[in-house]
Amino acid sequence: MADRFAVILAAGKGTRMKSPRPKVLHEIGGRSMLAWSVALAKELGCKRSVVVVGPDMAQLSEAAAKLVGAENVVVQKDQLGTANAVDAARGALKDADGHAIVLYADTPLVPKEAGERAFAELEKGASVCVLGFRAKLPNRYGRLVTAGDGSLEAIVEANDATDAQLKIELANSGVMAAPVKLMFELLKDVKSDNAKKEFYLTDLVGLARGRKLQASVAHCEERDVQGVNSQAELAAVEQDFQAQARARFMTDGVTLQAPETAYFAHDTKIAAGVTVEPNVVFATGVSIAAGAVIRAFSHLEGARVGEGAIVGPFARLRPGAVIGREAHIGNFVEVKNVTVGDGAKANHLSYLGDGEVGAGANIGAGTIFCNYDGFFKYRTVVGANAFVGSNSSLVAPVTIGAGGYVGSGSVVVDDVPADALGIARGRQANKEGWAKAFRQTQSAAKKSGTKPPGAV
Ligand code: UD1
Ligand code: MG
Repeated sequence: MADRFAVILAAGKGTRMKSPRPKVLHEIGGRSMLAWSVALAKELGCKRSVVVVGPDMAQLSEAAAKLVGAENVVVQKDQLGTANAVDAARGALKDADGHAIVLYADTPLVPKEAGERAFAELEKGASVCVLGFRAKLPNRYGRLVTAGDGSLEAIVEANDATDAQLKIELANSGVMAAPVKLMFELLKDVKSDNAKKEFYLTDLVGLARGRKLQASVAHCEERDVQGVNSQAELAAVEQDFQAQARARFMTDGVTLQAPETAYFAHDTKIAAGVTVEPNVVFATGVSIAAGAVIRAFSHLEGARVGEGAIVGPFARLRPGAVIGREAHIGNFVEVKNVTVGDGAKANHLSYLGDGEVGAGANIGAGTIFCNYDGFFKYRTVVGANAFVGSNSSLVAPVTIGAGGYVGSGSVVVDDVPADALGIARGRQANKEGWAKAFRQTQSAAKKSGTKPPGAV
């Protein structure tokens, strides 16, 4: 098999997004559209991906450099068309030998299988292959002119097409594959004598045919190659991604009680046998082990949930939350950068930030890990089987030893030894009969119209 390379076009200005953010840095499933294309190229085994950006796109160049390396980010000086954009990668790929695929960075959901089909055509002897699809409304797409045997003769852009050609439903997705060296050779012959006065990448097909080389179509679905030009299209592609993710998780044995209300990221991992209740958001970096239940209205990001654990309803797991087997994280509990041991429980109204909770420990309602002094963060360690009474503030850095108790309502600033009781609050005093006497004095005062000092 030939070595593979990718050229990812990202030079478009994206004006219709009306956003200060470069278009292709907008996200689908928590990952930028550009990163989706780069990930696809990696999945296809591309040795290198070259990203073509426009001039004055510092933010985009920087993001692209992080993904593919600065040496693989090239600038297309003037937007003279798709052929001119690919040509900008000529220098970066001068030593490349093998097959190249051209991807649009604003078309994030191209399946790996579709890319594989395009490369496979080259392996079978085609000199150019484009991904084509049956368009519901072909109007703006380039049309694929095929011969009787289904091979590709030419691509005509809508603006240049005859009435007969406009009736063709087979449309060009924009994804094209060709041998690297041949591609750059043919690019030299592309002219801009067309309706838009642009250099069309699609002309490579006609040029290849002119040399008696073979061109072919690999087929895909329209939704696979949905491009994003506006916020509405971004939302539509996000919906597609979510629909695919939901279907995939259900196929893989995850119970989604209200699939249309569960939101996933590109990297969400959920084992078979997990139940997800309605209205749960999985942001990036989450993995859930078998048998766990994620209850309604929970938000998870950068978190790992162990087997059989119960999270929520209304729980928030933030980056670094690692929840052990059979542990319980209940309503209005926020966990950040804390390892919660097997079977430990924090069921109500707590903030656990920076630290660890040992196996079997119980964190009472309203417990707060006071982790921040306005400048630095500190860790709270609660030992195995410790019991922290309700409404306690654990002022970090602090350790509650294994099996230790913290009296409810304590503000704990010193370590509590293992198996000890730490109690840090005012001692209770009961005054017999005080309430009764107080009521008598006050009601008498009210009847006589004399207000106590300070009353309004
Ligand atoms: C292109 C195809 C068309 C196909 C359609 C699919 C050509 C000539 N036409 O048309 O057959 O049906 O895509 O969506 O290729 N870009 C640059 N630099 C440029 C011009 C474009 O980087 O100078 C980038 C754009 O940002 C975009 C992509 O290339 O991501 C496609 O360009 P666009 O102008 O949208 O091409 P279409 O006219 O849609
Ligand atoms: Mg377009």
